[in-house]
Amino acid sequence: MPNAHPNRGDKPSTSAEGPRPEPPRRVTMRRRGPILVDGPVEVELEDGSTVFSDRFRVALCTCRRSRRYPWCDTSHRDRA
Ligand code: FES
Repeated sequence: MPNAHPNRGDKPSTSAEGPRPEPPRRVTMRRRGPILVDGPVEVELEDGSTVFSDRFRVALCTCRRSRRYPWCDTSHRDRA
């Protein structure tokens, strides 16, 4: 199995050693645009408050132009 990953369902979820840990959360970086994170996520903001999303994939704003910050609202596309 050249592409097998022990935490991606290639094997049973339990073994003689006990239950498997959760698979790693995928974070996708983009040069210009949001950071995509597999949800659900809880985001802690600079002021210490937190926001939560239970979406399958979440787009986090990196340009600070979003009116829905920290969520991306595609305002980054307006950059000249
Ligand atoms: S990255 Fe999309 S609005 Fe900021």
